[in-house]
This record gives sequence, C-alpha cells and structure tokens, in this order.
Amino acid sequence: MSELSVNHLLGIKYLNKKDIELIFETADHFKEVINRSIKKVPTLRDTTIANIFFESSTRTKLSFELAEKRLSADVINFSASQSSVKKGETLIDTVNNILSMKVDMVVMRHPNPGAGIFLSKHVKASIINAGDGAHEHPTQALLDSYSIRERLGEVTGKNVVIVGDILHSRVALSNIFALKKQGAQVKVCGPKTLIPKYIESLGVSVETNLKKALEWCDVANMLRVQNERMDISYFPSTREYTQQFGVNKKLLDSLDKQIVIMHPGPINRGVEITSDVADSNQSIILEQVENGVAIRMAVIYLLASKIK
Ligand code: CP
Repeated sequence: MSELSVNHLLGIKYLNKKDIELIFETADHFKEVINRSIKKVPTLRDTTIANIFFESSTRTKLSFELAEKRLSADVINFSASQSSVKKGETLIDTVNNILSMKVDMVVMRHPNPGAGIFLSKHVKASIINAGDGAHEHPTQALLDSYSIRERLGEVTGKNVVIVGDILHSRVALSNIFALKKQGAQVKVCGPKTLIPKYIESLGVSVETNLKKALEWCDVANMLRVQNERMDISYFPSTREYTQQFGVNKKLLDSLDKQIVIMHPGPINRGVEITSDVADSNQSIILEQVENGVAIRMAVIYLLASKIK
C-alpha cells in the first residue's frame, strides 16, 4: 500500500514527487466524495484534530475544519487571541495541554517561520503546517498545483510565473518547491526589492517586466502585497505598484494566448488584480478554494493512516 514518506506535513521541501502524486490521487477520490449528495465518510471517526491558529485566516481555517468534518474526525478549534497565550503560556505548554485531551493531530498556523518544525520535535502528534510566517504554506501549494493539473491536464512542463511580494510570501516558497518537484518551469516577477537575493538558487528565474513574464507563462499566480509583514516601504506607492505589477483585462487581452490566473487570497481587488480578471473565466481562484477541501482531506487521511 502507498504511504507518505513523512509523518508530518511541515513543508513541501520535505515531500518527494511520489508523495505529491499520492496526495493528488487521494484528493481525486475525496473530490468525488464531496460532490456526492452525502458528502461525509466515516474514515476518521476515531481521530481527534486540533486546529490552532495564532494568525488570522479565512480560507485555510474553514477548509481544514470542513475537511476534518467530511472525514468524520472530532475537531477542536483554538484561537490564540482568545486563549491563555495572552497570559504568557508557551507554544509547547499550550500544545501539550491540548494533546493531554487525547488529540492525534495538530493543524497549526503561526507567525514564526519554523514553528511547526519546532513543535514536531517536542510533542507526540502529527503536525500539519497551515502557514508559518514567511516560510511555507504546504497545503496552499498542493491545492495550487492540483488546480493547475485540473485545468491544464498536468503540471509537468508548464511555465508558471509567481507575481508580486515574493520576499514575504510563504505561498511563493511552497509553490516553487512543489512546481519544481513536478517538473514545471518557474519565474518570479515583482519589484526587485520584493524578490529575495537567494531565489535563483532554487532553480527559478527573475523577470521584472510583467508583460514579458505573462507572454512566457501558461499560468500566473498573483500574490498579495503583505503590508502586515513590512516595517519599511518596498516600493514608492500602491498606485505605482499596480501600474507595473497589477494584472488588468486590457493587459490579459493584449497577450496572444489565454493564460490561467490564480490567486491564493485574500485578494486586494484593484491592486494586484482587477475584478474583471479575478472574476473572468481565465481565473481559477474559486476552484483553488474548492480544491483546498479535497487536498486537505487527502493530507489528513494519509497522515492519520501513519499514526494508527
Ligand atoms: N490562502 C490563505 O492562506 O488564505 P487565509 O489566510 O484566508 O487562510
């Protein structure tokens, strides 16, 4: 029987190509399940999962919770802002207290890069990283590649450009790892100040001209400027950023082919992408969200089968 090579999902960096294929094949099955009239399977009836979020989230939190409920797991939700973390309790104490209630798996979002890796070394539970600072967001990258595979048939050989704030983006790093492992070509595009110097060592190229990047690609993954992670100004003004790195319908229509538009959300409409692009038939933004549930069901199912 096929199983994942890892006991935790801490980053795409730690997965191999076979792991990614197994997650996608398992997600295909769960996607079929969640489109039935009865959307639930009893598979994880004996599993308890804690979702602990130290940072805000809409899509990831709801998607994990729905995935867990569709698998019939028992679910507890923890939000740092309403917890004893406010009184100074440490991460390990917090999680060990949750685990003493017989929890099998922890899904965690945390502002510190490496928080999930740290936790996996100190607690006895399977850990899923739901985003750790500017480090990785593995389930986002998996659902992104899965959505490309669904729209274009395969990821291998495709040209994908990731546009925007690469420096502060965990989505960019996880996508680069995932796309490269599947044999896609990857470019990043954005202001030079928002592209880390090490990026080419990951096997991606840099293009600062958006039109050229779009002419090259099959898929453009548009990222949000993460103002909350910036303590200085990285470009002169939002207006100037939008003029150089925003995608609008006129720009899309000027290309000699139809490219696929993606965005992990939340969208800043009118900044990195206009509404007529976000809501066009070239956009697969809502398919990404829909596929997130099947991908997270697959990841949880495959990791749970390793702890039973
Ligand atoms: N894509 C993503 O991580 O969105 P949320 O921050 O809303 O979870």
